[in-house]
Amino acid sequence: MSPVNKILAEYPKLDSTHGPKDRETVLSCLYEAMRNDIPGDIVEMGCHVGNMTICLLGMVKELGADKKVYGVDAFQGLPDKTAPDLTNDNCNRVDGGLKCSRKQLVENITGFDAGLMDKLVILEGLFSEVTGYPDQVCFAFFDGDLYESIKDSFDIIYPRVSPGGIICVHDYSNCHYPGVRAITDKYMSGKNDVCTIKSGVLIINKEGQNAGV
Ligand SMILES: C[S@@+](CC[C@H](N)C(=O)[O-])C[C@H]1O[C@@H](n2cnc3c(N)ncnc32)[C@H](O)[C@@H]1O
Repeated sequence: MSPVNKILAEYPKLDSTHGPKDRETVLSCLYEAMRNDIPGDIVEMGCHVGNMTICLLGMVKELGADKKVYGVDAFQGLPDKTAPDLTNDNCNRVDGGLKCSRKQLVENITGFDAGLMDKLVILEGLFSEVTGYPDQVCFAFFDGDLYESIKDSFDIIYPRVSPGGIICVHDYSNCHYPGVRAITDKYMSGKNDVCTIKSGVLIINKEGQNAGV
């Protein structure tokens, strides 16, 4: 069984934030980056209760890789929306929604496999304020839901992504989160990286040719 299928079958689903297709897309991209020996660590911008974090850690464990997963979150609920995030249908999340705690994240991971914690670095704080990001990144998952949060994710992480590395932007095709697409298109405009959309996730292969994973 491939590591992607093993994790999909055996690792817990902690909440309803992502469907199975999202998980498969993100894990396939991470597997691709790791199989290609892209240097650097793994970053999740918006780790919340660890639904995806546990899968990212699982891949590091399954492949026996010498990499860390950096989970970044303020655990204070979503920051306030700005104009590009507003929709006409009022269906997107309320400001301050998704509040959770670092404790909950840690308990979710240790409750399944305490050994996974050796590979996790939690950076607690606003994306723009926290320090300790890795210098080199092979794979990043952007899941901050909002224009300013995704902007911060690009500003901080994109320059650290190694050539051939992959960024997955969640909710890129989700009409309830228009700010995600607006800032992603703006940031990527004029760049030559290969971009593909799969199950609503935008896959960016930096300076690579391989975003069809
Ligand atoms: C949709 S949830 C992430 C779900 C998570 N990836 C998972 O798999 O469970 C979005 C998270 O991003 C965090 N977040 C959004 N903008 C942020 C910012 N600017 N700084 C820190 N955390 C932020 C929120 O606190 C929230 O926990």
